[in-house]
Amino acid sequence: MGSREARPAEHDRQVAPGRLYEQIGVGYTRHRRPDPRIVARLDDALGAARRILNVGAGAGSYEPTGRQVVAVEPSPVMLAQRPRTAAPVVRGVAEALPFPDERFDVALAVLTLQHWTDPIAGLRELRRVARRQVVLHYEPGFEYWLTSEYLPQLRELDVGHVLTVADVVAALGGAAVTTIKVPHDCVDGFFAAYWRRPAAYLERSVRDAISMFARIPDEDVQPGLRRLDRDLASGSWRDGHADLLELDELDAGYRLIVAG
Ligand SMILES: C[S@@+](CC[C@H](N)C(=O)[O-])C[C@H]1O[C@@H](n2cnc3c(N)ncnc32)[C@H](O)[C@@H]1O
Repeated sequence: MGSREARPAEHDRQVAPGRLYEQIGVGYTRHRRPDPRIVARLDDALGAARRILNVGAGAGSYEPTGRQVVAVEPSPVMLAQRPRTAAPVVRGVAEALPFPDERFDVALAVLTLQHWTDPIAGLRELRRVARRQVVLHYEPGFEYWLTSEYLPQLRELDVGHVLTVADVVAALGGAAVTTIKVPHDCVDGFFAAYWRRPAAYLERSVRDAISMFARIPDEDVQPGLRRLDRDLASGSWRDGHADLLELDELDAGYRLIVAG
């Protein structure tokens, strides 16, 4: 990222650090469950590691099983949704991990970096407490039909605020990057999960489980969503995206970053 400092995303600047999920975390697990294909990719990346720290662990999605796992999560609303069988959890933030140097084999961070107040400091902490780092992140501003055709204002929330993949690689001192393509029936309802199920974006509960939508007043996205609704009803979305309908998975900018 050169000398440019990443700033927290717009909404996060309006909400006290770590407080965003107090608002949007309610009912999170209804639409946000681990997708088994992504679980398999993460498991591969963890390799033979035994001691794992899961940072920004949320309700416990993607928490590895059969390994010694400790979780870190700041939001009480998310903590309350962790199943009783989930790993032991410490309330805390990535930027100040309460563990000694090299306490873990791997520090894992899944779709959480964009929420950290100081992601560079958080990544430094991941490097301090673990020999390896496994991070699932996304490229801010990556081309996606929903943003380019209907809600261009969403792009502005990320670009210049969320660390790019190259920023993350640099902060980790070099890393291998691979693409996590999004299956057409992705179980985990993150932002681009519904790329082949466009009507899902019209549902309020689906949008409520996607932090990108929490960063912008609902009335600001309504005109774009009404246009999507009309295009779905008329068949023009389908006609315009015949190429997508032939795919089973899509590169929507999600990247697995493995360092150490
Ligand atoms: C999209 S959720 C992802 C949760 C989980 N990793 C998953 O994949 O389901 C992002 C999580 O990051 C947490 N978070 C926000 N700020 C954080 C920080 N500074 N340090 C660690 N976690 C943070 C949020 O509370 C939330 O639980």
